[in-house]
Amino acid sequence: MKLLVVGGAGYIGSHTVRQLRRAGHEAVVFDNLSSGHAQAVPDGVTLVRGDLLNPADIRAALDAHQPDAVIHFAALIEVGESMRAPGRYYRNNVTGSLNLLQAIVDTRKIPLVFSSTAAVYGTTDAVPIPENAAMQPESVYGETKLMTERMIHAFHVAHGLPYTILRYFNVCGAAPEGDIGEAHPNKTHLIELACLTALGQREKMMVFGTDYPTPDGSCIRDYVHVQDLADAHVLAVEALHAAHARGQAGQATYNVGLGHGFSVLEVLDAVDRVTGTPLHREVAPRRAGDPPRLVADATRIVRDLGFTPQFTDLDEIVRTAWNWHRTHPDGFRR
Ligand code: UFG
Repeated sequence: MKLLVVGGAGYIGSHTVRQLRRAGHEAVVFDNLSSGHAQAVPDGVTLVRGDLLNPADIRAALDAHQPDAVIHFAALIEVGESMRAPGRYYRNNVTGSLNLLQAIVDTRKIPLVFSSTAAVYGTTDAVPIPENAAMQPESVYGETKLMTERMIHAFHVAHGLPYTILRYFNVCGAAPEGDIGEAHPNKTHLIELACLTALGQREKMMVFGTDYPTPDGSCIRDYVHVQDLADAHVLAVEALHAAHARGQAGQATYNVGLGHGFSVLEVLDAVDRVTGTPLHREVAPRRAGDPPRLVADATRIVRDLGFTPQFTDLDEIVRTAWNWHRTHPDGFRR
């Protein structure tokens, strides 16, 4: 199968390109390189520099490369920034996705796999969270992902667009080979920050709240390894494409997580063990908008797609992240 991977030069996109090729597929990357890195695109994979905000760019890429399916990662992803710059987020994430959807149905009507997020649920009492939990995003970022999910469904109903939506929980880690990994311009994610602190790039780790109603008082999250998440995309696009070939316009939405959580303090303990450097920790007030516990009910993707995460041990997950950051202390600019 030939895939157009929109946002394929980014963190999750680049790992997915690798896993797609390992599964015998061909990938073409479409990326505006606003946060992605050309170095993350492997030799032999075409990189089309284009922007979803320019509809002609994506139409030209679909025409030129004639893919069998599209995987759409391209988005701005920072919760805090989305609250300060909502216009940028709605324009980039919603209008950009709309341009992509319109181009797909106007040209080829091929299957679409979309990157969504557990942020669409907001604070919920459901633990673990099933896909049919109430959706009340608490950030503009989560809102843009939910709006895009709804647009995709409307295009499915109106135009028969086949789709699978994957709602990621806390994506982390790096390729075990250590050559690609997380390199966002602004760092907010717990494991990445802890690794950079262990490297001495930051003085200490802030623990945002130890007064939550959890066993050790810190927040609990479901940490899914980026390579397992990449494999989830391969499974999703293969299933969607097979159904499409049988004349079915499939539609499905899946949580992607391990189905169990770790607390902030447990993650920091794991980083201490892996790096051999006990981090200086400071308890800080709660961070606005952090729910106490976000854990996926991942039974649906296991049942339907046979999703089998390989990275279930926290130390092993952290080791892959540490290996990447240790060898690339400045990301792709080392
Ligand atoms: N945390 C700290 N100190 C830090 C950074 C984070 O204590 O320096 C805590 C946070 O308060 C939170 C936990 O570590 O309790 C995880 O925080 P991250 O910033 O790593 O991730 P989030 O859970 O906030 O968000 C991530 C993605 C979202 C997605 C969500 C789903 O960024 O897009 O996971 O679970 F929606």
